[in-house]
Amino acid sequence: MGLLSGKATCNTHGQDSSYFLGWQEYEKNPYDEVQNPTGIIQMGLAENQLSFDLLESWLARNPDAAGFKRDGQSIFRELALFQDYHGLPAFKKALVEFMSEIRGNKVTFDTSKIVLTAGATSANETLMFCLAEPGEAFLLPTPYYPGFDRDLKWRTGVEIVPIQCTSLNGFQITETAIEEAYQLAQKRHLKVKGVLVTNPSNPLGTTMSRNELNLLVNFITEKNIHLISDEIYSGTVFSSPGFVSIMEILKDRNCENTQVWNRVHIVYSLSKDLGLPGFRVGAIYSNDDMVVAAATKMSSFGLVSSQTQYLLSALLSDKKFTQNYISENKKRLKQRHRKLVSGLEKAGISCLKSNAGLFCWVDMRHLLRSNTFEAEMELWKKIVYDVKLNISPGSSCHCTEPGWFRVCFANMSEDTLKLSMKRLKAFVDSITTTLHNQSNRQSIKNSRRRSLTKWVFRLSFDDRVTGER
Ligand SMILES: Cc1ncc(COP(=O)(O)O)c(C=O)c1O
Repeated sequence: MGLLSGKATCNTHGQDSSYFLGWQEYEKNPYDEVQNPTGIIQMGLAENQLSFDLLESWLARNPDAAGFKRDGQSIFRELALFQDYHGLPAFKKALVEFMSEIRGNKVTFDTSKIVLTAGATSANETLMFCLAEPGEAFLLPTPYYPGFDRDLKWRTGVEIVPIQCTSLNGFQITETAIEEAYQLAQKRHLKVKGVLVTNPSNPLGTTMSRNELNLLVNFITEKNIHLISDEIYSGTVFSSPGFVSIMEILKDRNCENTQVWNRVHIVYSLSKDLGLPGFRVGAIYSNDDMVVAAATKMSSFGLVSSQTQYLLSALLSDKKFTQNYISENKKRLKQRHRKLVSGLEKAGISCLKSNAGLFCWVDMRHLLRSNTFEAEMELWKKIVYDVKLNISPGSSCHCTEPGWFRVCFANMSEDTLKLSMKRLKAFVDSITTTLHNQSNRQSIKNSRRRSLTKWVFRLSFDDRVTGER
């Protein structure tokens, strides 16, 4: 142990989080319709498997792209030797055009301002290295993606200070919450270098309103700090209100020639919108030439392989394909989202109204034994080990209210989703029956005590549960 570095042995990676523990439990006993029908269903993984057939049929129609060929001639040697960390120009062009298309072509992106990275994970960490010293802080609205503890803090030494958002306003960022976070950082003697938001949000599945985005621009202008907008889910917005990129807000406010223009950076990746997390394709987009130059040098640690760039430049340049893919993928996500919401409703569970992402933010507060994070963990363990569904507890996303869970819906078949909802309903029914019986027994005792001979009582689902808190 003593021979290893502090970085290798410290636990700031966040591996102990219930978010990752749930994955480990799933790995030990994964559900399979035929091989292991009583196994754990993975609902803690934000993967998009709904549109693979579209990608596969494009590949079948375009064998050259994956076969290291151009116009039928092998370009194997060219790709094998390519190692320029600026990336393939054709790929960068196709990627920025795809990013514009997802934003309804309301904004355009310039290839000279994009840096390719091995996924958004690498992009976020690289930005931390470029923008902050160890011990400086970024403010993040809660709940946030559990991987950020690893990506932003672990190797960089940067601190995260939470902007506490609550269910009272659907977890939106308010002026008070962001100012309080800033004050909290100051109290902890942390220099705040910026704010990082995910739009659309993981885990909420909601897009940020223009109001929130304007508030953020005002805040970073006033405090003279950076804003990182992780827009990895921008192509998953399946219902109104539509997606508004931070770049669109800056354009609307005519920020091009102001200082704030250089302090806003976008993170993107093809892991969610195209469902290709294994390909490791991400990007930083920044208007600051110095950030672009530094991040390009740092990208040596996490480049995108040349054959991946080659394949995807062909795919993304096919406008007929991208247009159809974007709209069809959204349609499928919308249908799947509806299925999850209605399955949850049947089990008496509601969720935050959402319009994007690969998951729902599910409200199980009424199923907690008490309004505590201990009770949340207790419920989570029952759901993982007894119900055999791996979902992610809100505490792993740093939510400040116990009882919220992130449930993914796009990484499984429709039949598996149906089964998961059947299991969940049976579980909720069993809890409510127990609670009802306990409540009944208690009532009978009370009525005897009070010598009441006739007492007809009807308890609603909520009454029964809250009566037990
Ligand atoms: C908000 C957010 N940022 C970054 C990532 C990491 O993505 P990638 O697979 O591109 O590294 C994820 C993955 O779930 C995410 O949800």
